[in-house]
Amino acid sequence: MRRRSLLSVLFITVCLPLVAVVYHRLAISSTFFHAPSSSDIMTEAPAGADGPGPAPTRPVIVVGSGLAGLSAAYTALVSGASSSCRLVERAPKPGGNSIKASSGINGGAGSDDIFLQDTFQSAGARYLQSPKDRSELIGTLIARSSAAIEFLTGLGVNLKTVAQLGGHSLARTRRPEGGSPPGWAIVSKLLDKLQNAEFQGSFELRHGCEVTRIHTKPNFSNNVLKDDNVRPDRSPSTVVGVDFVQNGGEYQFLEGPVVFATGGFAGDADGLLKTHRPDLAGMPSTNEPRPGAHALLSAIGAKLVDMDSVQIHPTGFVDPASPQTRLKFLAAEMLRGEGGILLYKGKRFFNELDTRDHVSNAIMSLPAAEGELRQWHIQILLDPGAAEAAAGHVKFYLSKGLLEKKKVSELDDTTKATLARYAETALGRLPDEFGRSSFGHWKLDPTKLESGAEVYIGWVTPIVHFTMGGAVINNHAQVLASDLGEPQRVIPGIWAAGEITGGIHGDNRLGGSSLLECVVFGRIAGEMAARWTLGSTTIQS
Ligand code: FAD
Ligand code: SIN
Repeated sequence: MRRRSLLSVLFITVCLPLVAVVYHRLAISSTFFHAPSSSDIMTEAPAGADGPGPAPTRPVIVVGSGLAGLSAAYTALVSGASSSCRLVERAPKPGGNSIKASSGINGGAGSDDIFLQDTFQSAGARYLQSPKDRSELIGTLIARSSAAIEFLTGLGVNLKTVAQLGGHSLARTRRPEGGSPPGWAIVSKLLDKLQNAEFQGSFELRHGCEVTRIHTKPNFSNNVLKDDNVRPDRSPSTVVGVDFVQNGGEYQFLEGPVVFATGGFAGDADGLLKTHRPDLAGMPSTNEPRPGAHALLSAIGAKLVDMDSVQIHPTGFVDPASPQTRLKFLAAEMLRGEGGILLYKGKRFFNELDTRDHVSNAIMSLPAAEGELRQWHIQILLDPGAAEAAAGHVKFYLSKGLLEKKKVSELDDTTKATLARYAETALGRLPDEFGRSSFGHWKLDPTKLESGAEVYIGWVTPIVHFTMGGAVINNHAQVLASDLGEPQRVIPGIWAAGEITGGIHGDNRLGGSSLLECVVFGRIAGEMAARWTLGSTTIQS
């Protein structure tokens, strides 16, 4: 016992100061981008990078230029706290999967309580694992949803059209009026703002740059985790910067607090997807192929949660010209929200506006189509009312050969009978046999079916779309070295937002809530990281 305490005293009084001196000797200069020395490659840090402190030249580093990263970068700059921001993007172009978002962003409609209920219900059984921590995350998402919409509309994004997606009790998914795709409208507005003269010199976007490592410095000498100084092995190290490599060139070190926004792994078929969901092998995907960056977080002690929770969207378009192509266009859920229906061999088989997991399961319990890819032969059908409400999207899908226009008189008898019954239902004259209660803009009258009425039809199949799992964060977007349900162990100096994080959506994400989480947690992360550069760790609620 006496020997143990003697050793502790020796460690604290002799070893710690020694180690601290060594770190300071190995100091790295605080320029934004420079080639790494051997000390960069170790988990050792530059002097002055050991936590919050007055280092005004230190930028906020954002990794990933999707909506989460862009929201963080913009907020860091306008918060007044950070003088500069460096955004590092692996792909040759910015925008990630965010730029492809097709149905919209949730918020600013109906009461928060109903939104909460819908989200808890959609999260399913997984919500019951650590409900307190999950409730906090969901609570933050929803409490800040109206502000997220105001933030975007305040920048000039038009979000006036509202649709009801699957699993929502009311219409709350917003997209631009006039048919512009929501992901493109939001991402391009944020990029425009960031590249505006206002931020010249303070904002830099580097594309073609892959972050390969997160650097940390043990918390021996800072004041962030005083109590842990006596147990340095239990104290998460402070993040001080990242290494990145540009187009296969030299590694470069970038110093500063980090917002990690690298997205999910639904496009990582042979990597993380294979590890966590081998049963999904052979399914098509809506995500560009790209590796998940989760291992970079695990390497600094971050915990990952719900990694086997992968969302299968019910409706990816199968292009009749190349049905076996793995990367497919999404048939936006909004098509069903605005009135579209799903058919198998001419008959409806499920409530098209149930949650995605339920609709996909219903399809996948039907016989699969033949071919190399695992897919099903389901038709999506829009009447003139639904097609008019989704006109911009319909025009695009027609141009790609994914939808075709047909006269009702050209359809087979089974489909005609289905339409006749559904039209009665949508016009409120019959209860729906599958419990659908919202019919969007359906207007086709059962008495008009043979009088030249036209519908739009395409072939769709369930498709890998989104990963609910990822890094554990708290409601301040801080990355945690503890699991949900455990006492929180914050990794200082790093925040995460967007699809890279886990725990918010449980078993199933509601359509429109990913763009929302990107804006909500991206803004929190950006502000927190900016405040860190000024030496503040105070959390604003
Ligand atoms: P992303 O937008 O994917 O951005 C991550 C970025 O990080 C990428 O650009 C990537 O290249 C970069 N990156 C990755 N690793 C590294 C690294 N090591 N170094 C540097 N950079 C790196 N959600 C909705 O809420 N509403 C919708 O209507 C909607 N529609 C969708 C339609 C489609 C076709 C798809 C695919 C998804 C849709 N989603 C929708 C989901 C939503 O778009 C995404 O979940 C969300 O945009 C993810 O944003 P993000 O910022 O977290 O990641
Ligand atoms: C879609 O447009 O169907 C995708 C919406 C989402 O993933 O939230």
